[in-house]
Amino acid sequence: MKKISLKVNLKNNSYPIIIGENIIKNSGAEIIKVIKKTNKFLIVTDKNIPKIFIKSVLQSIKSKRKYLLILNAGENTKNIKYTETILKKLFNHKFSRDDCVIALGGGVIGDLTGFAASIFKRGLNLIQIPTTLLAQVDSSIGGKTGINSVEGKNMIGTFYQPKIVLIDPSTLKTLSKRQIIAGYAEILKYALIMNKPFFKWLKINSQTLINLTNLNIVSHAIKESCKAKAYVVAKDEKEKNLRAILNFGHTFGHAFEALKKYSATLIHGEAVLYGMMIASELSMKMKMLSEEEFYEIRNLYHLLDINYDIQNLFKKSEVNKIFEFMKNDKKISGKKINLILLKKIGQAKIVPADLNKYIKPILNSQFN
Ligand SMILES: NC(=O)c1ccc[n+]([C@@H]2O[C@H](COP(=O)([O-])OP(=O)(O)OC[C@H]3O[C@@H](n4cnc5c(N)ncnc54)[C@H](O)[C@@H]3O)[C@@H](O)[C@H]2O)c1
Repeated sequence: MKKISLKVNLKNNSYPIIIGENIIKNSGAEIIKVIKKTNKFLIVTDKNIPKIFIKSVLQSIKSKRKYLLILNAGENTKNIKYTETILKKLFNHKFSRDDCVIALGGGVIGDLTGFAASIFKRGLNLIQIPTTLLAQVDSSIGGKTGINSVEGKNMIGTFYQPKIVLIDPSTLKTLSKRQIIAGYAEILKYALIMNKPFFKWLKINSQTLINLTNLNIVSHAIKESCKAKAYVVAKDEKEKNLRAILNFGHTFGHAFEALKKYSATLIHGEAVLYGMMIASELSMKMKMLSEEEFYEIRNLYHLLDINYDIQNLFKKSEVNKIFEFMKNDKKISGKKINLILLKKIGQAKIVPADLNKYIKPILNSQFN
């Protein structure tokens, strides 16, 4: 597999994304290319990350001053207590802003470490080495960092870009199928909102992608996804307009996750898969998306055996709770909610949709 290089173009904060099989073994050399003055390195990771990945990164860094912090895995780690743990470690080892912190793991480690890096002495060098498919195609790129609080998910955070993102598709082999499908949700999202040829490619290659049987196919999907995310972020870094299209399926998805209390019963990517299916159906019902294209999307779900029937998740009596959660969404204005819908496969649009006229009926109709 050939090494792929992309760039996130931002005025003063541009950075490369490198995709390559076994690149993790060469991560030290790649990091030194982009940050030359660094003396000290802190690798932050979690207990579920295979030890071999940690060893590879440690061995590839030639400096003697390298430190390791292994945190508990899971969404509950994304909090202020663990932010302090990272900050303390940096202070204890007298890190300066020229030094470097490396996030090695999924979106949880990436978001948490990115947040700590952004506030330590107002920002030290951050490197992202994502090891879940979701983190490789989405969370490691674009600079959104954050932690959860009792007030809600990702309620505290910053925009803080890494110096480089190093993506090694071979690290995905130790992930569960469930985690792979959760990452696939975001890949499919890019195709649906902005890239019809990529959707056509996914119709042919999704099985191979999900089963990780050919890393060239996996790398191509990662590349197309990173390109899409980099394009949107470069146009709208702080989510003033265009970046909102990346929320396709997420407004419904967030409501589902919240009702499940962000537990492992429903992981983020799964919630997005349900959400995208409902948003596609609503796009058809609002006469934007053609019936033909709606069935094309539905057939892809069928082909991959992806479950999108929310009757398996919720009882009809819970529709009101979902609806109430959506009514409190920050994208509400008056009686309408700004939703991302599809005009066609490959083209999304922000549409104010009446809550009572469209949202409640589409939720109820899922139980007929
Ligand atoms: N910043 C953003 O733009 C953005 C975008 C999307 C999602 N997110 C955030 O990302 C988080 C979800 O990320 P995630 O899905 O990667 O979850 P995660 O980080 O919890 O990882 C999932 C599980 O897989 C384990 N794991 C990671 N890599 C592995 C590997 N290669 N082999 C075996 N196990 C491995 C982890 O330890 C964890 O137990 C959420 O907190 C979400 O809010 C952020």
